[in-house]
Amino acid sequence: GMQIAGRLMKVFLTRRIPQEGMKILSATGVCEVSQWDSDEPAPRAELLKGVQGAHGLLCMLSDKIDAEVLDAAGPNLKVISTFSVGYDHLAMDEIKKRGIRVGYTPDVLTDATAELAVALLLSTARRLPEGVEEVKNGGWSSWKPLWLCGHGLSDSTVGIIGLGRIGMAIAQRLKPFGVKRVLYSGRTAKPYAAEVNGEFVPLDTLLSDSDFIVVSCSLTPQTQGLCDKAFFSKMKKSAIFVNISRGAVVNQEDLYEALKNGQIAAAGLDVTTPEPLPTNHPLLTLKNCVVIPHLGSATYSTRGVMSALAAQNLVNGLQGADMPSELTV
Ligand code: NDP
Ligand code: DGY
Repeated sequence: GMQIAGRLMKVFLTRRIPQEGMKILSATGVCEVSQWDSDEPAPRAELLKGVQGAHGLLCMLSDKIDAEVLDAAGPNLKVISTFSVGYDHLAMDEIKKRGIRVGYTPDVLTDATAELAVALLLSTARRLPEGVEEVKNGGWSSWKPLWLCGHGLSDSTVGIIGLGRIGMAIAQRLKPFGVKRVLYSGRTAKPYAAEVNGEFVPLDTLLSDSDFIVVSCSLTPQTQGLCDKAFFSKMKKSAIFVNISRGAVVNQEDLYEALKNGQIAAAGLDVTTPEPLPTNHPLLTLKNCVVIPHLGSATYSTRGVMSALAAQNLVNGLQGADMPSELTV
């Protein structure tokens, strides 16, 4: 069981989580849960305090888990379970050094995130937010041949940067819109790409040939700032850029210039740096930039399943058992 010498194991949750996960934590009846009981992130000081002496930590992508947090937790800490598939917020080298196991939530959010990526791509390419705005502000004077025209997917070339679980699910969803070619880039060619006739190409080819570019890679030292001035300058002037990975993959000053100068047609961002993006950020002054607040996995059912998986990872990890989804990197 999860008891050490008859004592309950201490678990710290950095946030409220959907009840599916809470049920699992209480059903086991052997861990003592303390929690930052809010829908907002725990302030850093509260995180450092709450984690003290914990055996298990359940965190969110907005919690930076670094040496300071691990030191604050102390030697009890055996398991970190993140309520996310991305793990760029975890200092994995420090975590491994201390022999701490990590759970995460791959697969269960792939469909929801791919669906959101398609919604964002279409909204951006067909200028839906601009259109909604014009209806409200009286800018809609009549039907006009070229008013609010955008770009369609028929006969287009789509480039996916990072054809992983989510990138592949995006490609599968875009194909039926009449996409002609699917290109992808990354470190290695993927055998499963054949399912969407995906062509593994050098990044420069992807940039010059794509009408739509979707970034769905993980944030790593190699992908940080990947989308910069040189990147945007290689894209078609008519191309649409979509990012659902992490904000830091994009150099936002360079993106602003590219959008402002007509170097590219439009951008749709589900992720930014920082999050939230300050309301006075230059990107928000541009009509051809659609920014949404990190909604990729935001369906009720997906968040429920993520909650259950994160809780089960934590419980199993504390018991020294296999986790449903253990991160092994
Ligand atoms: P996967 O690990 O399945 O896919 C990540 C892909 O990134 C891999 O295919 C990998 O390909 C690629 N990649 C890694 N390094 C590079 C590189 N240098 N250049 C190009 N591609 C690279 O993860 P998921 O698909 O499950 O998730 C991907 C990311 O999406 C997460 O890490 C997270 O940051 C983000 N995400 C965002 C969400 C949102 O709400 N907006 C929701 C869920 C996830 P290769 O091996 O060839 O390098
Ligand atoms: C993740 O899981 O990494 C997403 O960004 C949120 O679901």
